Amino acid sequence: MRRAPAYRRLQAPAFYMVVTLAFLLISAGCGNLPGGQQTTTGGAGTNVNVLSAPQAPPGLPASLNMGMAGGSTSVDSLKAPQHAAHMKRFTLVAQPARLTLGPGFITDAWTFNGTSPGPTLHVEQGDLVVVTLINHLSFGVTIHWHGINVPNSADGVAGATQNAVKPGQSYVYRFFTNDPGTYWYHSHQFSEAETDGGLYGMIIVDPAKTTFHADVDYSVALHEWNSNNNQLVLALNTTVGTLNEAAQPGQWVRLRIVNTSSTASSVPQLVTLVGAPFKVIALDGHDLNGPQWLNETPLPIGSAQRYDLLFQMPSSRSVALVTATDSNPAQYQNIPALVFGQGTVPTTLPAIKPWFDLTTYGRPAHATITPQSHFDQVDSITLNNQVGNSLGRMGMTYTMNGKVFPDTGMIMVKEGQVVKIHFDNQSDLYHPMHLHGHFFVVLARNDRPLTGSPVYLDTVLVPPHTRYDIAFLANNPGVWMLHCHNLLHANWGMDMMVMYSNVSTPYTVGKISGNSPD
Ligand code: C2O
Ligand code: CU
Repeated sequence: MRRAPAYRRLQAPAFYMVVTLAFLLISAGCGNLPGGQQTTTGGAGTNVNVLSAPQAPPGLPASLNMGMAGGSTSVDSLKAPQHAAHMKRFTLVAQPARLTLGPGFITDAWTFNGTSPGPTLHVEQGDLVVVTLINHLSFGVTIHWHGINVPNSADGVAGATQNAVKPGQSYVYRFFTNDPGTYWYHSHQFSEAETDGGLYGMIIVDPAKTTFHADVDYSVALHEWNSNNNQLVLALNTTVGTLNEAAQPGQWVRLRIVNTSSTASSVPQLVTLVGAPFKVIALDGHDLNGPQWLNETPLPIGSAQRYDLLFQMPSSRSVALVTATDSNPAQYQNIPALVFGQGTVPTTLPAIKPWFDLTTYGRPAHATITPQSHFDQVDSITLNNQVGNSLGRMGMTYTMNGKVFPDTGMIMVKEGQVVKIHFDNQSDLYHPMHLHGHFFVVLARNDRPLTGSPVYLDTVLVPPHTRYDIAFLANNPGVWMLHCHNLLHANWGMDMMVMYSNVSTPYTVGKISGNSPD
């Protein structure tokens, strides 16, 4: 069950790891291991993993404003209406819980409504979604609607679009779900500690017109938990063992996979399906054109990314979703797993084949932005890591153009512009880069345009020593984050802002407000 050494959370190659560990020792443990893990004895002598409240980095400035000073439009005015013809209301209560994820694996968690993942919210395309967040934890919380193009005031970024919701307080999020697909939500106050600690869930937006028929529609979150002794253990939804889902022979199954972990960055999480051929029908919620059948193809899923799979249940077998270890070479493992239909995970699992490649999959079609489009601006961002100082802590920092947040600067845009971003990953690590408030078109990898389906993502997994070009239409005014969704990297520097030149914010990040988005 235990799949990773205690220091895996450092997520850096061995050389850097040694250097970082030295710093950690010198700085008496104030470094990369968040949430000061402890264990306590639960019932029947079982150890329980205990969480301690997240803390702001010691060098967080007093007050930082992420908006355009004097901008004529305030974040607070960028909001959805109070009413609409089709509304869906939910209440999410942030509260502590003690979760049993498997025999002998009990952990304290921070949850929405007592479970982690929190409730899966099902809504329809075009609904006005109204979510009341009530905070019963002892520290501030927000909710970010990952991948949904919400109005800026509903984006849930503490210090940019709202103040963190204090203990005992509440906040109402309102947004339209115009784009169908698989999305998720998580806290964006102390996002690393709070998301890793359990404050996340899934939100599914059903299309107005069905694009793929499915008899069974199942969503699964891949989440790494800290077990006793600081080891990371991968769970599928609520278990580190096997999940079972009913499905009859011949039925069509849509499986939505969300990676809610800050997966190790030297390898991406690999998953595959054994027992039936499958198609990848959507990435990050957006349908692909002409997806082809795949057989046991490993799917690299970066932190925060989503894959929607479609397959038909065979006449006499079960179908299993399995995950791979992050050892080198990686191998599929028997747990955790998700089994559809009657049966168990095969004892012998396939070897790992060449990975799924989103740049060649599916069939070409018209895309809203292509490499030949006119770009109003092009921004290049190098991604790297080095030992240094981030907000008063010494350790491994993760840099954008050689700098760490808040010195990373910003990308200033105007409404209506088509903006291209060139990511150049010069490091040995994977960086799943996420833009808030917009989805983007993937234009090219290593200067080679895509040859398959157009691909729209909100999080692009940039492999080591690889370049990606993406582009988006600036059609959602606000103050938006652009950051690595390996939340350890975000916590240690890898964030910047995309700011519309007319938008100001009344909120601040820093010690005075207590807002600390990462
Ligand atoms: Cu899912 Cu800024 O994050
Ligand atoms: Cu990263």
